[in-house]
Amino acid sequence: MIVRSAKALNGRVNLPADKSISHRAAMLAAIADGTTVIHNYAGSEDCMATLRCIEQLGARIHKEATSVTVTGCGTRGLTAPAGPLDCGNSGTTMRLISGILAGQPFISTLVGDRSLQSRPMRRILEPLGEMGVAVGSNDGRAPLTIHGRSPLHAIQYGMPISSAQVKSCVLLAGLYANGETSVIEYVATRDHTERMLAWFRVPVLERNLENGGLNISLNGPARLRARDLVIPNDISAAAFMLVAAACLPGSDLSLPNVGLNPTRRAIVDLLIGLGVGIFVSDEQDQCNEPSGTLRVAGGIRGVGRTVLIRGEKTARLVDEIPILAVLGTQLEHGLEVRDAAELRVKESDRIATVVENLRRMRADVEEYEDGFRVGPSQLQGAEIDPHGDHRIAMAFGIAALLADGESQINDPECTAVSFPGFFDVLGEVSV
Ligand code: S3P
Repeated sequence: MIVRSAKALNGRVNLPADKSISHRAAMLAAIADGTTVIHNYAGSEDCMATLRCIEQLGARIHKEATSVTVTGCGTRGLTAPAGPLDCGNSGTTMRLISGILAGQPFISTLVGDRSLQSRPMRRILEPLGEMGVAVGSNDGRAPLTIHGRSPLHAIQYGMPISSAQVKSCVLLAGLYANGETSVIEYVATRDHTERMLAWFRVPVLERNLENGGLNISLNGPARLRARDLVIPNDISAAAFMLVAAACLPGSDLSLPNVGLNPTRRAIVDLLIGLGVGIFVSDEQDQCNEPSGTLRVAGGIRGVGRTVLIRGEKTARLVDEIPILAVLGTQLEHGLEVRDAAELRVKESDRIATVVENLRRMRADVEEYEDGFRVGPSQLQGAEIDPHGDHRIAMAFGIAALLADGESQINDPECTAVSFPGFFDVLGEVSV
């Protein structure tokens, strides 16, 4: 894909539906009693992998335009799949569905693509083991063979890392345990699973602990009641457009119906803090998730010092770090990210792939074990290697708009993992 520099982004972009929320909607609908219509289900490859998995487990799926009707099997009605369940590139599919499979009276095997099969799974195998489930793995990586059983032991699990996927896996397994299963997190991660469980009428309790942690619990065994829902658009997809528009001074871009969950909206608040004109309108609550229309005007005022992202901020911006690296090149004092070692085990080693591609564009960048620092840089067009990682391809698609000359983004199709048609959309709004 050849991308040339642009002056502004103007118009309106219909973003893809939220990937995280779509996964949860499909999985919970599959184990609910009754039929759920999910409106605005994400068309991304990751979310299609989740639909295929639940279909192989016996849920009936009917797709029409962007709506998906799921006939649920109840918590006890899934059936043993005929073959391995293929999660493709999707860590969320694999880690969340493992929690459900842990409570089934059959064995199931989960596989993924090369990237997914290299990602760490011990983080879910440990709590599932404590709940009494044996899982075979390739030294802590997929393929995973889950020896489901029921009931599971209810546990209290203090998460050693900050991960919404681990939290969700344990809570979903908790649906199949006797008694209270709780997860303690010390850094608040995205809470879509908790909100979606509540939508399906499973009470989820949250308590603040004296040591600053948050205890999230539910009581098993639990049943879910099917209930139609509407998914907002993906704020992590919006992030690419927001940063691009902010960096191109003449821009005026509108992004309707974007999810504004407090655990996901840090990118919006960060940009507002840098003096970017972002206006929120049409705020509403859809199925326990807040959303609104974002209008962004080009131009960044800045803050007179290096923007430092670390600790809880890093956790809140986990999927936005690649595009923030690009933003950093446009800030007068640059940007530094720390406490981001988790990025090394995403779809690619995102610290390495960000640093490598920024260097290809002649940016001033320094790599750390747990992050990087970028200084203000006039980017130069270059050949970009996303290493198969959708967020790297998109972040550098935006970098190319800001660079001198033209860039070539290799493997642009990998953006379909979360944002099919990303480069077409970009072409339509850039001038
Ligand atoms: C996700 C959680 C995050 C995020 C991923 C989606 C989710 O992963 O990076 O893109 O939907 O729960 P971790 O839980 O591993 O931080």
